[in-house]
Amino acid sequence: MRKVVVTREVFKETIDFLRIHFDVTSNQDDRSYSRDELLSIVSEAEGIQTAGSDQVNDEFLDAAPQVKIIANTAVGYNNIDVQACLRRGVVVTNTPGVLDECVADYALGLMISACRRIGEGERYLRSGQWKAFYFKQMLGLDIHGATLGLIGFGRIGQAIARRANGFGMRVLYHTRSRVCEAVENDLHATHVDKSQLLEESDVVMLILPYTKDTHHIIGERELSQMKSRSVLVNIARGGIVDDAALIKALRDKTIFAAGLDVYEGEPQLNPEFLELENVVLSPHIGSASEPTRRAMAMTAAKNLVAVLANNEAPINPVNPT
Ligand code: 8YV
Repeated sequence: MRKVVVTREVFKETIDFLRIHFDVTSNQDDRSYSRDELLSIVSEAEGIQTAGSDQVNDEFLDAAPQVKIIANTAVGYNNIDVQACLRRGVVVTNTPGVLDECVADYALGLMISACRRIGEGERYLRSGQWKAFYFKQMLGLDIHGATLGLIGFGRIGQAIARRANGFGMRVLYHTRSRVCEAVENDLHATHVDKSQLLEESDVVMLILPYTKDTHHIIGERELSQMKSRSVLVNIARGGIVDDAALIKALRDKTIFAAGLDVYEGEPQLNPEFLELENVVLSPHIGSASEPTRRAMAMTAAKNLVAVLANNEAPINPVNPT
């Protein structure tokens, strides 16, 4: 039987499904492997179900000389050197589609939390500081009637826009190429350039892949273009935002607040974020609902089965070889 490795704990049904087809080594104890351990565990694998936290590069591929497919359990694949895989004929797959609605729900949650100071209010209450009613206490920003600017307008961005319509928000978006008019009309979304989006939005939301072209596309200059009462929400990837510049903007209150699910260098994050009240911080859990994580794990496993067991084309190829 072909050998398959699953690098992090997934749901039992996924392991059971893989075991029908493969000799499976799975990390169901969910240990955080050291790099050396990980490299040794994949040494005989023909298929590897990776997590977004696994770095798949030449070093990794050298350590897994039999590998034919990397099935990433995430829609993003910036953890994978796709070109290195392509050079070796290794198929890369991801999990598009199954997490769109879940991540869109979460994006709205972070937005509301940052605008309405929900985390700050809870910290205030839990620490026993709430002693009296103040009419002007914890004043936040309205969501209804506000302008949402989406940078990135793929499946998840569009799912967010649909929700924003329900909140009575005006929706702007910026992407390299416009989506078709029917989608724009359906979602009441207007394509604008990046500067206009930054200048007019009350909430700027990032939902685009991290690549060398999107590194630090929100830095000091872009933050200074945003309104002083605006909010930045990043549910995409660390590295798209220059975190040091964002910390400065939050500290100087040149923007109102931020809601972040991702960070440069995560799971480490710049400790200065922790000192700020006007930022909502979460540990990269945008897709972490149980049904969605179940669907993501099965999607990755189905790609392994298609390619390795059934000799079929991958279902969700990132790099058709
Ligand atoms: C993942 C994500 O859970 O799918 C993605 O791209 O960001 C999340 O849904 C995360 O990458 C951990 O694997």
